[in-house]
Amino acid sequence: SSHMGNDLDHVLFTQDQIQERLERLGEQIWQDYEGKDLLLVGVLKGAVLVMADLMRTLPGTVPMDWMAISSYGSGTKSSGVVRILMDLREDITDKHVLIVEDIIDSGLTLNWIQGNLRSRGPASLEICTLLRKPEAAKVAIDCKYVGFDIPNEFVVGYGLDYDEKYRNLRDIGTLAPHVYS
Ligand code: PRP
Ligand code: MN
Ligand code: MG
Repeated sequence: SSHMGNDLDHVLFTQDQIQERLERLGEQIWQDYEGKDLLLVGVLKGAVLVMADLMRTLPGTVPMDWMAISSYGSGTKSSGVVRILMDLREDITDKHVLIVEDIIDSGLTLNWIQGNLRSRGPASLEICTLLRKPEAAKVAIDCKYVGFDIPNEFVVGYGLDYDEKYRNLRDIGTLAPHVYS
């Protein structure tokens, strides 16, 4: 099999650009949550790399937890109907929860997660996403920390997959047409 980089049409963000942006977001987050009981909540699987790199930009210790969810319904697009495959281990009551995501596409996934976590009574609930597609929004998501707004193109790499592939690509890019055929 060929090098996965050959399957990219063009690179949107290199690993260096991603790291640089995460450093800035980390600084902002560290200031905003000073003196607060912060819990980072990642959404499996896409957010694995964002979480790993974002949390390491923070100068002090911070706990993390994970949630795995599944959209059910047909098709590859998320339906917004979600079930929990793996729930948080932590009780988030009275905690300052920051959800860490790789991408907001339609917004349906985060809309559901926000509603679910809000019902558990956190002290605050905010979102940090590396990528956001404003043109693809089906529901408005109030997102406090956004890495990059991107056009409505299918992107892979840095945790983002196509059929479970390309998550381990270091850069983020669009797939070449030959991959789909
Ligand atoms: C992707 C991505 C976001 C979600 C965004 O996850 O990681 O979680 O879709 O799409 P939306 O805004 O249209 O709901 P996916 O369901 O593919 O699972 P994965 O993280 O395991 O790849
Ligand atoms: Mn995901
Ligand atoms: Mg996916």
